[in-house]
Amino acid sequence: MTTRRSKATHLTAASAVLLGMLFATTALADPFPDADLDAGEEMHMDLCVACHVERFGGDQGGNAYTRADRRVSSPSALEQQLTACTTMLNLDLFPEDEHHIAGYLNKHFYKFD
Ligand code: HEC
Repeated sequence: MTTRRSKATHLTAASAVLLGMLFATTALADPFPDADLDAGEEMHMDLCVACHVERFGGDQGGNAYTRADRRVSSPSALEQQLTACTTMLNLDLFPEDEHHIAGYLNKHFYKFD
C-alpha cells in the first residue's frame, strides 16, 4: 500500500512538472515576435478599419476577423489574408509593417499562440 501511494505521488509531481513546462512554452510562444503593436494599431486604423467597418461592422471592423466564416485560422493564414488586402489596395507596405499589423490583429482579435 505504502509503495503504491508513493508511486502515485511521484506521478502527480511529474505531471505537475510537465504541465508547468507546457504553460511556460505557451506563454513564451509568439507567432509574431517583436511586432510593434502600437505601430500596427496605427496603420490598421489608418488603412484598414474604415473599409472593414463598412463591410463587416464591429469595433474597428473586427467582425471581419471574428465572423463565423472567417478565412483566417492560423498565423500563416493571417499573413496571407493580410497581404491579400494590402495587395488589393496597392499599399506596397514593407514586410516589417505587415508584421506589425499582423501582430496587432493577432493580439486583439485572433489570439493565436
Ligand atoms: C477596400 C476594403 C478593404 C480594405 C481597405 C482592407 N480590407 Fe481586409 N478585407 C476586405 C474584405 C472584403 C475582406 C473579406 C475577404 C473575403 O472574405 O474574401 C477582408 C478580409 C481581411 C482579412 C481576413 C479576415 C478573415 O479572418 O476572414 C484580413 C486579415 C484583412 N482583411 C486584413 C486587412 C488589413 C491589414 C488591411 C489594411 C492594411 C485591410 N484588410 C484593408 C476589405 C478590405
